[in-house]
Amino acid sequence: MTDIHVVILAAGKGRRMRSELPKVLHPLSGRRLIEHVLQAAADVRPSTVTVVIGHGGEAVTRALAADPALRFVMQEPQLGTAHALLQTEALFSGARGTLLLLSGDVPLLSGASLRRLLDAHAAADAAATVMTAIVERPYGYGRIVRAGEAIARIVEERDASPAERALREINGGVYAFDLAPLFPALHSVASQNAQGEYYLPDLVAIYRKRGRAVATVTVDPDEIRGINSRTELAEVGALVRQKKNEELMGAGVTLIDPATTYVDADVVVGPDTVIHPNVYLEGQTTIGGACEIHAGVRIAGSTIGDRVTIANFCVLDGATVASDARVGPFAHLRPQSDVRERARVGNFVELKNTTLGEGSKANHHAYLGDATIGSNVNIGAGTITCNYDGRRKHRTIVEDGAFIGSDVQLVAPVRVGQGAYVAAGSSIVEDVPAGALGVARGRQANVAGWVEKRAARKPDPPADS
Ligand code: UD1
Ligand code: CA
Repeated sequence: MTDIHVVILAAGKGRRMRSELPKVLHPLSGRRLIEHVLQAAADVRPSTVTVVIGHGGEAVTRALAADPALRFVMQEPQLGTAHALLQTEALFSGARGTLLLLSGDVPLLSGASLRRLLDAHAAADAAATVMTAIVERPYGYGRIVRAGEAIARIVEERDASPAERALREINGGVYAFDLAPLFPALHSVASQNAQGEYYLPDLVAIYRKRGRAVATVTVDPDEIRGINSRTELAEVGALVRQKKNEELMGAGVTLIDPATTYVDADVVVGPDTVIHPNVYLEGQTTIGGACEIHAGVRIAGSTIGDRVTIANFCVLDGATVASDARVGPFAHLRPQSDVRERARVGNFVELKNTTLGEGSKANHHAYLGDATIGSNVNIGAGTITCNYDGRRKHRTIVEDGAFIGSDVQLVAPVRVGQGAYVAAGSSIVEDVPAGALGVARGRQANVAGWVEKRAARKPDPPADS
């Protein structure tokens, strides 16, 4: 096998996006555009991966910092796609093998199509192999001009004659190049065209004139959809979503209404889970089998076990929910919420950085922040952890089997011991020992006969409203 070197072009401004954010960092299905491209590239096991950055380059480098193997090359100013590739010349001096050129704004490419491109390139012993597609609306793309069977050149939309504009075979912007002749040939690309740019597709005509073989591979047009505008971002987004939903249903997940089910690319869902309409599953979210996710739920970056029910209109962000638990309706699980097996989180309950132990319940109207709650604990309606003193956050600990009555404030740092009870309406500022009852509220006094005495008094003056 020859070495595969991947280069991804990502220096352009993406003017048509009208955005402060570099185009390749725009999110699509929970990943940045360029992360989709990197994922496809990884499929061909490249020896090196280089990203050409320019406009917003610092932001792009920062966004991709997690992968130390990535190489970055700066293109400044940005004079076109051929000029962009030329900036990598020093990196490849003496290198042999195949350079696989990808665009940071063509995110749907599959690893399988890349392998097809590389196989065809090797089989044809070509100087270059171009990925093409036949599309209904070729507007905006470079058109493939053939002489007989063979590709003769590529002409950009703005430089094309009316007859060329009618061609429906387009350049996908993805190429395999033999490294040996590549950089000398790139130096002979000129910029006499409508945009005054150095066009990488011009290499095709250069090689053909020199009698070098140029091959093409035609793929599903959906795969090489480029994103140049917000409209295209939305269209491609819908396509990815549809593909993901089909994949999930194929793997045994019931989607009541796929058209209103929004599942990001990296989300995993187990079989026999039922997902109701208007559900958003985002980022790195994993959901087990036989769960039921009801309508209007948003789950981001969370891990859900098996047989979990998430009732309507819950928001989960960075949470963990173990098997057989029930959450909602109308619950909010914020980052580091850890709901253990068989626990219950009911309506209008908010958790943050809190563990709710096995079989424990917080069924109604509660805020549990920075708390460690043991197993089989009952948290009464209206319980609030007072975790913030205006400067720092403090922890509340409630040990196994404790019972917190309704409308209790737990003023942290505080601990309620194993099996202890806290009376309803208490403001708990000191630890409650195991097995004790903590009561911290004003005593009730009943004034006998008060109502009658009041009636005997002079009538009150009339109220002004
Ligand atoms: C390009 C192709 C076109 C093809 C289409 C497929 C050229 C001249 N045209 O057009 O034939 O049909 O892709 O999607 O190549 N970039 C740089 N530096 C630059 C200019 C661009 O890094 O100086 C990067 C961009 O960030 C982008 C990619 O190259 O990721 C393609 O550039 P773009 O301007 O989007 O080219 P298209 O007009 O789409
Ligand atoms: Ca483009």
